[in-house]
Amino acid sequence: METEKDEMEPLNLWNPAAFEQGVPYDYFRYLRDHEPVTWHSHPVWDGFWSVTRHADVLRVSRDTECFSSQPNPFMAGDQPPSSTDDATSGMLISLDPPDHTKMRKLINRGFTPRRVRDLEGKIQATVDRLIDQVADKSGCEMAGDIAVELPLQVIADLVGVPEEDRHKIFHWTETTFGFDERFTDEERQQASLNMFAYADQMCEIRKKVPHDDLISVLMEAEIDGESLDQLQIDVFFMLLQNAGSETTRNLITTGTLELIRHPEQMQMLKDDPSLIPNAIEELLRYTTPVMQFVRRPRYDTVIGEQEIKAGDPVVLWYSSANRDERAFDDPDTLDITRDASQHVAFGAGGPHFCLGASLARLESKMMFEAIVGRFEGLALGVDDPGTLPRLHSNLIDGYAQLPLRWESVKPAA
Ligand code: HEM
Repeated sequence: METEKDEMEPLNLWNPAAFEQGVPYDYFRYLRDHEPVTWHSHPVWDGFWSVTRHADVLRVSRDTECFSSQPNPFMAGDQPPSSTDDATSGMLISLDPPDHTKMRKLINRGFTPRRVRDLEGKIQATVDRLIDQVADKSGCEMAGDIAVELPLQVIADLVGVPEEDRHKIFHWTETTFGFDERFTDEERQQASLNMFAYADQMCEIRKKVPHDDLISVLMEAEIDGESLDQLQIDVFFMLLQNAGSETTRNLITTGTLELIRHPEQMQMLKDDPSLIPNAIEELLRYTTPVMQFVRRPRYDTVIGEQEIKAGDPVVLWYSSANRDERAFDDPDTLDITRDASQHVAFGAGGPHFCLGASLARLESKMMFEAIVGRFEGLALGVDDPGTLPRLHSNLIDGYAQLPLRWESVKPAA
């Protein structure tokens, strides 16, 4: 049933404040029903288009002849572009074909299914260790104690960051990309410079002695006489820290919260853990950790019935597409048995489809197996989930903290 066409006050979707109480799903539903491609004002851009229907998000994402990711696919805030924005235009996620195709092929050399499978043992050990660390307590703060750490450790294992340097890199990652307003722009810039310098140093070491890790593979990768230069490796190193960690941690935290809020779904997983991979697809759909990315048409075009001018920013709202009743039955219901395979949480197809999707699936499978299998009587540590602090972001949806309590924790299998 469509929402009534009562006028709904437009929300300032460019502003993270619009997401402070959670994703504005009612507003997105209204937009899908009445203005599926709608113009919003913006303090720095002339304005932007919000695309909210699943079919339109798919179309824009796949039509790279018309829609570009340059200069980058990120929504601007209320500050004019800075030098950090210039640096982002060389990132894999900002490039268009054919530059994107070339770089992605080179990077794929280090991202093979075998390399992901080889991480399995290390991921399981990290999951076990993180849960063992809290097992003799009666509760923990899940975001900080468990969910943040797992993806950071996995990326470090993949890339080849030695144990003793990991917390330094984690700190730089949090400073550069974290949604913590206490960090100044200068501190963020310094942290990204530190990350570049660290990647340079890793390459210097590997020039002398190659290692069996992603950095060595990226240094050696060559296709048709082309290879990645130092800056490209540095920028990719930085993108990986962000893309791999900010995202997966929120799937784990919000996913756990949703399973606690839907005890019958949690019980189904306890009774039959083979449902976990399907449940992860549904949790990806339902929680959509990455809410949007931006594209710009190279020439005048039409999306749905809306004419769009060349160069206008077009925001693809994955959070809305994943709740589109034209694509999913009863989309606001969490149903871990549904076929959610058409979700757009990893992107809506096209060349930028998440490079780390299989790694994210593997990590979260192992983590949810442990959460479902090891904790008895898992419950929220606060009475009202509405009081939980959220991330200050309109790009990444999630909670800054998730206090949990439990009756007991079983040993690792
Ligand atoms: C739940 C976890 C994750 C979610 C929801 C997620 C989501 C996304 C989305 C929406 C995109 C953009 C797709 C597009 O524009 O079509 C993307 C791209 C990307 N993701 Fe992920 N991601 C996750 C985990 C990871 C992990 C673990 C890694 C790395 C280890 C990773 C690396 C990347 C990279 C490098 C890109 C850019 C790919 C390109 O431009 O070709 N992501 N991801």
